[in-house]
Amino acid sequence: MKSALRPGALLFAGLLVLSACQSSASSSPSQSQAAGSEQPSADNLSGDIQISGSSTVQPITSRVFEAFTALHPNVTGFVDGPGTGDGFALFCNGETDISDASRTIKDEEATTCADAGIEYVGLKVGIDGLSVITSVDNTAIECLSLLDLYALLGPESQSFSSWSDANDLAAELATQLGGDYGESHAPYPDQTLTISGPGEESGTFDSFIELALSKIAAARNQDATTRPDYQAFADDNVIIEGVAGTADAPYTLGWVGFGVASENLDKVHLVAVDKGDERWTGYVGVIPRYVREVAPKAQDAVAITCGPPVMIKFTLPELQQLGFTDEQIITTLEMKMKCGVGKCGRCNIGHTYVCLDGPVFTYAQIRKLPAEF
Ligand code: FES
Repeated sequence: MKSALRPGALLFAGLLVLSACQSSASSSPSQSQAAGSEQPSADNLSGDIQISGSSTVQPITSRVFEAFTALHPNVTGFVDGPGTGDGFALFCNGETDISDASRTIKDEEATTCADAGIEYVGLKVGIDGLSVITSVDNTAIECLSLLDLYALLGPESQSFSSWSDANDLAAELATQLGGDYGESHAPYPDQTLTISGPGEESGTFDSFIELALSKIAAARNQDATTRPDYQAFADDNVIIEGVAGTADAPYTLGWVGFGVASENLDKVHLVAVDKGDERWTGYVGVIPRYVREVAPKAQDAVAITCGPPVMIKFTLPELQQLGFTDEQIITTLEMKMKCGVGKCGRCNIGHTYVCLDGPVFTYAQIRKLPAEF
């Protein structure tokens, strides 16, 4: 990662739904005979669908379940989100029909399913990011490197109760690892370190270890895991409340999926996670906050944004807050393009082809497009 300006999302992870090949929902004989030739109606589909697993995927599945049962009121069931690992345990024990997951199934879980004779297919339903977060009132922390995250959250930080307790470990890591995992931002504040995050049952927990901690742990001959002494919760909303902290105690730290973090930006602040190096002397942090700080004047100006769609999504409202009109905001939809020459049909939004009609548009033009942009 070279750019020091980036959204707070650390890295991306796929969200998976595993579905057992046999559903307990059933159709009437007449519907079965017509399978493939007509949509099932509300009158002829019934049964029970039980879904469990990732709390990150749960909101998506719940919406789908609501829509499905509205269409088929004789279908019953439930959706819950105890965590990816717990979900797989239920699924491979034959207790659920669909298992939400925020990571791929582990070998030992797949073996358990195979031993139980449970076959499945994996379906990718979305892409989420991993966000390192602190309280919105913690203005001392804008950016942390992977080295910092290991010093504060890794297995060797057990019993560190203050951020500054990690100073010596960060110095040791910087000497041993050089800049391979980013520069140390120590000395850290001499303030109580309060950590909230997902528990071991969570796929987001596993992803954080894999993406943020595992390589440094291996270099240190340590187990690839987090420190054990933090507040672990299965409910993402409880994690958010823990990291939100209070105005008197804002020196919190935690991690959740980006989808959850982005819904709670009034409570938590996304920490930029970047390697950076000594050549970068500019701002380090997330773009929307930087735009707010710089506060460019809208008079006789245009704002041009390009970058990851998620950055653009959160930057546009900041520009509007500063008084930029839809005509004064120019952005790009190039991420929707594939072939780029009008041949593949992958970039159309309604009747507009991004590759032929753009990819640069004013926000006024974009707002006239169907919502999927
Ligand atoms: S990107 Fe292929 S048609 Fe536009």
